[in-house]
Amino acid sequence: MAYRVPFIDPRSHYAKLKTEIDRAILGCLTNGDLVNRHQLKEFEQHLAEFVGVKYAVGVNSGYHALLFALLGAGVGPGDEVITVAHTFVATVSAIVHCGAHPVLIDVGPDFNMDVDLIQRAITPRTKALLPVHLNGRVCEMDQIVALADQHGLAVVEDAAQALGARFDGNCAGSQGRAGCFSFYPFKVLGGFGDGGAITTNDPELARMATLLRYNGEDRATGEYHYHGQTALLDNVQAAVLDVKLRHLPDWIAHRRRMADGYHRGLSGIKQLRLPHFDETRRRDIYQNYVIRTTVRDELRAYLKDQGIETLVHWQKPMWEHRGLGLAAPDVPETLSICREVLSLPMSAETTDTQVQTIVASLQAFFSQHP
Ligand SMILES: Cc1ncc(COP(=O)(O)O)c(C=O)c1O
Repeated sequence: MAYRVPFIDPRSHYAKLKTEIDRAILGCLTNGDLVNRHQLKEFEQHLAEFVGVKYAVGVNSGYHALLFALLGAGVGPGDEVITVAHTFVATVSAIVHCGAHPVLIDVGPDFNMDVDLIQRAITPRTKALLPVHLNGRVCEMDQIVALADQHGLAVVEDAAQALGARFDGNCAGSQGRAGCFSFYPFKVLGGFGDGGAITTNDPELARMATLLRYNGEDRATGEYHYHGQTALLDNVQAAVLDVKLRHLPDWIAHRRRMADGYHRGLSGIKQLRLPHFDETRRRDIYQNYVIRTTVRDELRAYLKDQGIETLVHWQKPMWEHRGLGLAAPDVPETLSICREVLSLPMSAETTDTQVQTIVASLQAFFSQHP
């Protein structure tokens, strides 16, 4: 179905950047720069500068960033890693693929790790904390890092949805032992296919990830140091991402403006909970604009009839997918989030007019559902 207001609009995104992107891609193709060339190194350098760390290592997905960061932090069989129940499955799969056990704790109303629940989830087997900065909002990193230091644990940040978001002025992905980013096409910085990166100040972790992504090989010596994976960020993707990274500050400012527009238009509707939280210490990038309502499914159907595309992240809790073999945790907030959340259109291409259209539709819906 063609939506009047699509969730995202990749065609107009490309059209706006066509000249710069075509030049970057043609540059790679013309010069045969396909694998691990200067475009990848330049992108890694620019990304590290943007996040405020010494190293960035490009890999082919956010999942691989998580897997290699956990391995680099020493997570292995028999270890436990504490993360949240409300996240994308890749966060948990990366832990499982290290041979470790994921311990799922609840999130707070801001969708992020409830720091009050960490302490009691720590056992002698706990090796790492894996906070997820969901929807473009950074977790309470000061408390998470302090707890980790107190217990000798590594912090691996799942910053897949939070490139450019800040807490106490520090970028997501800069405070833990490693930060993990995704460049899936619909992320705030998206490639033309999946991609990811690890950010870190730890030279050993950076080196291990650099080898793991290339089948364990040190390209300078030809020595294989590990059984690695084929997981290098494609050079052409890196060239495209490097172009887009220059626009990221403007896109974040745009998202924040659109979020303000939603806030102004929707704050009078008492059946809605809006994703605006105390920003004294945080600066959100609104990767997703996620509202909550107990009449989510009716609202979603109504918006669809109005030609407005929405998404639900995520309807069915992870542990209800039996193939994943996860035990059901005690996470009441996550369960109510699964029943209530709805993501409204939000991207660099979302316009004021579209936000007004959506706001008007929501107001009309709730005037019939007092
Ligand atoms: C919170 C979170 N973690 C991890 C990932 C995994 O990233 P990728 O899809 O690039 O593997 C994603 C991507 O959707 C995500 O949103």
